[in-house]
Amino acid sequence: MGTALVFLSNVVLAEGVLSGRQLVKPCKVCHFYKEKKGKSGPHLFKLIGRPVSSVEGYPYSKALLKIGGEWQELRLAKFLNDPQAFAPGTTMNFSGFKNMKRVKIAASYFAGLSARQ
Ligand code: HEC
Repeated sequence: MGTALVFLSNVVLAEGVLSGRQLVKPCKVCHFYKEKKGKSGPHLFKLIGRPVSSVEGYPYSKALLKIGGEWQELRLAKFLNDPQAFAPGTTMNFSGFKNMKRVKIAASYFAGLSARQ
């Protein structure tokens, strides 16, 4: 019984990681996940725990500059769910997931990625 439960949670975890990776595919159009310049958005290296608007030299909008604080998983989820609601006037041209379940999977993908970086 114990083994079956562990097995089941591994399957759930694997599916979570897989769909997380798929959900964040659109992000790659505008963001590098490593410390690199050259896309329209700032890189997302070590995103979770990083101060908002802190990539040196990146021309952030006033909307994002005034948010302050750090990127935590829940905040990221709120931003990705509806960028214009979280930071009205942001230049991030992404309509948002508008789906809390999907957005939580996407945010936890970045939490996992940041922890490994
Ligand atoms: C069409 C391009 C585009 C897409 C797609 C996009 N972004 Fe962005 N993103 C931007 C831009 C531009 C900014 C800067 C926004 C500003 O200054 O208002 C930004 C800012 C951000 C920030 C703030 C970073 C910081 O340094 O504070 C995060 C986090 C972020 N994006 C995550 C994502 C994720 C995750 C996805 C995918 C679900 C995504 N973005 C999709 C263009 C994009």
